[in-house]
Amino acid sequence: MSIRVVRSSGALRGRIRVPGDKSISHRALLLNALAHGRARVRGLLDSADVRSTATCLQAMGVDFRRDGEGVIVTGRSGRLAEPDRVLDCGNAGTTIRLLCGALAGQSGHFILTGDESLRGRPMARVIEPLRHLGARVDGAADGARAPLAIRGVPHLRGGRVAVPVASAQVKSALLLAGLAAESPVDIAVGACRDHTERMFRSMGVPVEDTAVGVRMVGGRGLEAVDVDVPGDISSAAFWLVAASIVPGSALTLEGVGVNPSRTGVLDVLKRMGADIELCDARTVCGEPVADIHVRSAPLRGTTIAGAEIPRLIDEIPVLAVAAALADGETIVQDASELRVKESDRIETTLAMLHALGSEGEARPDGLVLPGAASLRGGCVQSAGDHRIAMAGAVAALAAAGETRIDGADAVEVSYPGFFSTLEASSVTR
Ligand code: S3P
Repeated sequence: MSIRVVRSSGALRGRIRVPGDKSISHRALLLNALAHGRARVRGLLDSADVRSTATCLQAMGVDFRRDGEGVIVTGRSGRLAEPDRVLDCGNAGTTIRLLCGALAGQSGHFILTGDESLRGRPMARVIEPLRHLGARVDGAADGARAPLAIRGVPHLRGGRVAVPVASAQVKSALLLAGLAAESPVDIAVGACRDHTERMFRSMGVPVEDTAVGVRMVGGRGLEAVDVDVPGDISSAAFWLVAASIVPGSALTLEGVGVNPSRTGVLDVLKRMGADIELCDARTVCGEPVADIHVRSAPLRGTTIAGAEIPRLIDEIPVLAVAAALADGETIVQDASELRVKESDRIETTLAMLHALGSEGEARPDGLVLPGAASLRGGCVQSAGDHRIAMAGAVAALAAAGETRIDGADAVEVSYPGFFSTLEASSVTR
């Protein structure tokens, strides 16, 4: 297990280019692999999760090549090859769930698995609606857990499917399955990130927004499209909180994706009093992008609930650090999804804060954080969860003394350069 020591920091200053968006990176590889033609992906996130998607696709005959500018994907015009091995999705929920949808309508037999964390995560949410479209999927606990086995059915049925959780992974799996459906697929799903819809449209497959979700008409193939992947707002979130809580800080985060389905973290931090400004707003490959300036500011507690939750679900561990230091109580509710992420993030976030001397309580669907903590160095366990390791490191910047992060290598999943950037931007006090 790798250990990192993070010390209390002086002001953080400078410009940071966060790595490519993880959700968009997975999709840029997978959708172009299914498409007709060849495309270049620039700014792809080079991390363990995205490598899981690439390795699975290579096992199904997809060719990736690097050139000076990015990764060239040669599409297979809708037909992936049957792999001669088990597809290992590692720690990546997006890889396994999107592949379930993409493979449901292929010819062949596919077995998908992952690490211990992924094998413990719920899969019925994706398998049941896929079965409704005629997919043949089996797995541990009747398909509720990986390993999963898919017997491809080249002609799926369309129809109306309701997704009980506002999950972009499930919605995306159904859209991918819809490519092989004989009639339109209507998906009823709560508002959540829409990168797949945007990319489908840019690849020539229309997806309509409906009153309850999205609707697509299958039978049309994807056309390969170049993608410039924006910086990941979920990675930028660590610097937004770090600069907010360490006095005297001023950071500029360059080229960050600010798709409204992902910017809940900006709304909440601003509501807490953070000094955040967006500049040079532009659209790149159908996704809104901006530079973000952040300066330290006193924060106050807030309530995070309801429809805001899917717009910031991955940022809650680091928002909890901001809340611990804020003036007044913060309540996080309607967020039981946190319990089925890479770790049970209600418990692991709380354990991280407790290790640094902060109070707080778990609720079945969230957290109650009293605020006004004076953090002191301690020992944080990442529990193998990248976002807990990074949130712990951010908290350590504002904690007296030294903090040890056990299992710091978990950051490889989404942000391999995190600790080097931390060392370069922070000034030891
Ligand atoms: C993701 C969707 C979210 C998010 C995950 C990435 C995606 O998961 O938490 O990190 O790329 O579609 P859910 O779909 O389970 O909400």
